[in-house]
Amino acid sequence: MKQIVRDKWSSKAGFVLAAAGSAVGLGNIWKFPYSVGVNGGGAYVALYLLFLVIIGMPLMLAAITLGRKTQLSVFGAYKSIDKRWSFVGALAVICGFVILAFYSAVGGWVLYYFKNAVTGRLNTTDPTVLAGIFTDMMNSPKILIFYQLIFMLMTIMIVIKGIKKGIESSSKIMMPALFILLIIIAIRSVTLKGSMEGIKFLLVPDFSKITMDVAKNAMGQVFFSLSIGMGVMITYGSYLGKEENLLSTAVSIPILDTLAALIAGFATIPAVFALGFEAGEGPGLMFITLPAVFASMPMGQLFCIAFFLLVIFAALTSSMSMLEICVSYFVDERNKDRKKATLTIGALIFLLGIPASLSLVEGSGFRLGSLTFFDAYDKLSANILLTTGAFLLSIFVAWVVTTKEAVKEIESSGVEFKLANVWSFLLKYIVPVGVFIILVNSYKDFIVSILQ
Ligand code: PHE
Repeated sequence: MKQIVRDKWSSKAGFVLAAAGSAVGLGNIWKFPYSVGVNGGGAYVALYLLFLVIIGMPLMLAAITLGRKTQLSVFGAYKSIDKRWSFVGALAVICGFVILAFYSAVGGWVLYYFKNAVTGRLNTTDPTVLAGIFTDMMNSPKILIFYQLIFMLMTIMIVIKGIKKGIESSSKIMMPALFILLIIIAIRSVTLKGSMEGIKFLLVPDFSKITMDVAKNAMGQVFFSLSIGMGVMITYGSYLGKEENLLSTAVSIPILDTLAALIAGFATIPAVFALGFEAGEGPGLMFITLPAVFASMPMGQLFCIAFFLLVIFAALTSSMSMLEICVSYFVDERNKDRKKATLTIGALIFLLGIPASLSLVEGSGFRLGSLTFFDAYDKLSANILLTTGAFLLSIFVAWVVTTKEAVKEIESSGVEFKLANVWSFLLKYIVPVGVFIILVNSYKDFIVSILQ
């Protein structure tokens, strides 16, 4: 394989910020709250947290360890240990294409909302007006595609500039700012009159609501939110120096990520109940509800502008990680020119994203069986591709690399891994079996719904 000179993160904080930047994105702020609404509230949250601890965290450690051990990005990492596993790299590229195709659509919505925040159009608490703004956007192919294009162009520009520059430095300001702002919104949301119902909806699990569907969505969301299953964490981990403590990293990223999701949940759901929106609204939930929260705050418009700006940033640090995976495959494995590869792949992903955007326009007929293209991409990426990637990752690190070797790698920086046995057990048995059960169901459901 081509020998490449590899950057190292300028500091461990640089890696944590970039990895957290990939993890924290629309998945936390947009997708988690509406998924809680659609999937029945507290029971989904409880299941999400369970899967996070017994499946997501062990896999996060496995991914970072595999990257650091091989010092290679996802394709090389699998290939260098066992050639037969190279196909996982191809899977990662396909996954990046599919996720970014619909992620960029939502990124476009956020850009459009940022513009509306600036012009003051969102300055109302009236649910009908806010729902109207969202529906108008959904029914305008021009707006949808124009802003999706802008979002893709921004992502492409960042990736062309290389992996470290800019991102590392600006993350240090933007990510904490996003957290602070989310906390402020959450405080406003939970102090609205009538928010108690929403708090209960989030926190009190009604276990009778747990179905195979809810479990599937919760697990898919864990992988989507942690950016696990398409090699982002393997690739980012490969830039870590041998002296770095992998354990603290593998714990802190999921914790940060989950805090962001939960705070976004508290920012959105209580307000949904207090201000008369619908918890089961779906993908429009954040766009319809949060402007009303801002409108009920002093200096609301300013908060609204800042919020959408920070969400754009968070979405970009995630989207660039997806595009980076696709591009580095063609650069490292196929010797393509970086700039050309980025432009071509970016353009292809944009094209692939157009049906996803248009499928949301009422009566557009862009459907795969019973699903809109948008839903099909969403389900295909989270429930099928990422879940398959996560399954393969667990098998690979547990049984091919072996947990014994992995523990050696983890301890090579001089830390003692006290929970090594627990981790090995989870990774060898619990993770693959748990993920496999869900995966079989996901394949079955997905095939049924596109044949319908
Ligand atoms: N984790 C990102 C988010 O929550 C999405 C993502 C998934 C990024 C997979 C990279 C890989 O928004």
